[in-house]
Amino acid sequence: MIIDTDAGVDDALAILMALADPTVKIVGITTLNGNVSLANVERNVGTILNAYGAGHIPIYRGAGRPLLVDAPDASNVHGTDGLGDAGFRSPRPLESTHGAQAIIDLAKANPGCTLVTLGPLTNLAIALSLEPDLGTYISHTYVMGGAPKASGNITATAEFNIYVDPEAAELVLQRGNLQSTWITWENAIDHVILWDRWEALLDAGDMGKRFVRPMCTNLMNWGKERNRIGMIMADPKAMAVALDPSCATVQHVYMSVDCGTGVGRGMTAVDPRGFAGKPANAYVTTQLDLDRVIALITTATALPCAF
Ligand code: RIB
Ligand code: CA
Repeated sequence: MIIDTDAGVDDALAILMALADPTVKIVGITTLNGNVSLANVERNVGTILNAYGAGHIPIYRGAGRPLLVDAPDASNVHGTDGLGDAGFRSPRPLESTHGAQAIIDLAKANPGCTLVTLGPLTNLAIALSLEPDLGTYISHTYVMGGAPKASGNITATAEFNIYVDPEAAELVLQRGNLQSTWITWENAIDHVILWDRWEALLDAGDMGKRFVRPMCTNLMNWGKERNRIGMIMADPKAMAVALDPSCATVQHVYMSVDCGTGVGRGMTAVDPRGFAGKPANAYVTTQLDLDRVIALITTATALPCAF
């Protein structure tokens, strides 16, 4: 598995889920600007791996900016440092190869691998531009991104990962010969983890108690202040589908991204009725088995913690 991330609090939990699965070998983690700056993301990935005491997993520095238009970050949600400002700082050295090139190299070295993208698609778009046949090496790509019903979380119509780099997402959809499943923001909000179940999974083990809970405390308070009924956690749901595709119901559709500069910028429009006359180019998740998702998240929070 290759993981591309803008770690972030929910990215951290998703990466721990992959570390907790004995059938998964993470062959590399590529980083990019998104939730917080690239420098913070790079440090956060080392911190997450050290929280578990993981062995060597190469970390690569990727895109520091979107392809064309700069976008806001999400430090208001993930904290200034990207891990909830809980004070966790344990960086690891990075490889010298650029993250986009690393996706190509890792895919060619591990044909049939899975790619999980948890942030904007800038690195993947660059990789596809460098290697148009990337899809022959990657068996399936799982993308956390999009809001087909235009229930946005960064604007009225767009989900954050796609809004940060709509041009990259459109390139991935229109140029990529990738088999991809998109776990959308609407999937995430349709399957909220209610507070009692969230508290129980945090208490499942030391990782939950000593790393995930402190990291999520600000986000939990932020949600409770807004009378939310539980934690949303988008990236762990994408990782759950990557680890166990049977936990998702999907629809094969044509999807494209609005790259304009108006109110729809970053909107992911799906076309199940074929108005565009284009072949389906993505699988979009319509339902999730929340019990299965929570069970997979719990494997991560039940891990031992090295901090
Ligand atoms: O919209 C949710 C997505 O944006 C998640 O990946 C979160 O980490 C942020 O990157
Ligand atoms: Ca993310």
